[in-house]
Amino acid sequence: MKIAIIGTGYVGLVTGACFAEIGHQVVCVDCDAEKIHTLKTGLMPIYEPGLDELVARNVAAGRLEFSTSTQEGVEKSTVIFIAVPTPPLPDGSVDLSFIEGVARDIARCMTGYRIIVDKSTVPVKTGEKVAETITRYCKSRVAFDVVSNPEFLREGFAVEDCLHPDRVVIGTNSARPVPTMKEIYAPLEAPIIVTDISSAELIKHAANSFLALKISYINAISVICEASGANVMEVANGIGMDSRIGRAFLDASLGFGGSCFPKDLSAFVKISEQLGYDFALLREVQHINAIQMDRFFKKIQDTLWVLKDKNIGVLGLAFKQNTDDVRQSPAIELCHRLQKEGAVLRVFDPKAMGKARAVLSNVTYLEDMNTVAEGCDALVIATEWPEFKQLDLQRVRATMVCPIVFDGRNLFDPAEMEQLGFIYKSIGR
Ligand code: UGA
Repeated sequence: MKIAIIGTGYVGLVTGACFAEIGHQVVCVDCDAEKIHTLKTGLMPIYEPGLDELVARNVAAGRLEFSTSTQEGVEKSTVIFIAVPTPPLPDGSVDLSFIEGVARDIARCMTGYRIIVDKSTVPVKTGEKVAETITRYCKSRVAFDVVSNPEFLREGFAVEDCLHPDRVVIGTNSARPVPTMKEIYAPLEAPIIVTDISSAELIKHAANSFLALKISYINAISVICEASGANVMEVANGIGMDSRIGRAFLDASLGFGGSCFPKDLSAFVKISEQLGYDFALLREVQHINAIQMDRFFKKIQDTLWVLKDKNIGVLGLAFKQNTDDVRQSPAIELCHRLQKEGAVLRVFDPKAMGKARAVLSNVTYLEDMNTVAEGCDALVIATEWPEFKQLDLQRVRATMVCPIVFDGRNLFDPAEMEQLGFIYKSIGR
């Protein structure tokens, strides 16, 4: 199948590379000439495990190419995926101007039947607007179909998720594009759900909101655990073994972040409001997330008393493991709060320090996780990188002024940490 992907961010680039990997002919288009140049030279604009090899292999095989021209993408392809950003507006609603702009560009270039597929996360009813826009701007009055095909990949596991999805959702109000869409995904051998456009759009927002709800739920339970002396990890394991609940996304933390959950929750609350429903449940999910960070910060403040001039080591800057993404990262927010109180920070992240430099200054960036706590009054763990479990804890303890560890990701066993001589404060235990 000949496919164009308009927008070469996380979703667009990974999807394009994965489509090429399963045998399709793909052109990835982006208006950012520098990004396309970078990709053409074989470098990746983002860190994503396995992506560089995947791109290199498919470029070499002649199945994947990059371009700055939407016209080239539309001319060469039968199916055009839109994977451009849908950033939040100040009132929580979604800025759909990139989607609209791309729909107009595609319409102007279309000379024959095309399937236009929305992969970006968008509010319900966007597909209808895209169809209207294409009809309005397509001079040659050619036939087309609009499909909603939301993406469920997680950063850090994007290639794996894209090649092995739990399900593929195809939302369309016409039968015509269904065989083509099924053909694209057939090599993945994943369950395919064919539904209408609005339901497909809602599946995406409803799924992300439910996952965020699970995290806020366990974070709320962590508060009860702290107050009662119970252990949130034991509780999560106990309830997670019920197959109706499941253990995934029940890791208590200092709160969720990233470019998806916070934005999608706000958007879903806003859309619901516009449709006449006050989604108070999701507003509470947002509230619990905000106070989870407040509570973690207060724990540090209460323990260290005065934060001014305290030396604090911070492990982890990315919003989660396996990514260099620091957008809406709880770790960065925590660093800013600590700095605001006058703390002096020494920080480390295995992959995110490059991107962190743009948003976090006046800190010492270190290259070795074992040196972060040297001379520190406390160490904070803010991201769940698995390598942090390999810390040389004896050495860390020996080099700290006060052996206090605040673990926002529950990476260590409290009893073992205490045995090693740490004052160890984690979440819900
Ligand atoms: C999320 C969804 O998981 C994807 O399915 C979806 O495709 C994507 O958004 C999107 O809309 O594009 P992502 O934002 O990459 O993916 O990250 P997640 O793995 O979902 O983690 C989000 C946040 O929740 C992170 O800050 C993570 O540390 C936190 N988290 C996750 C917890 O605090 N506890 C958990 O148990 C799980």
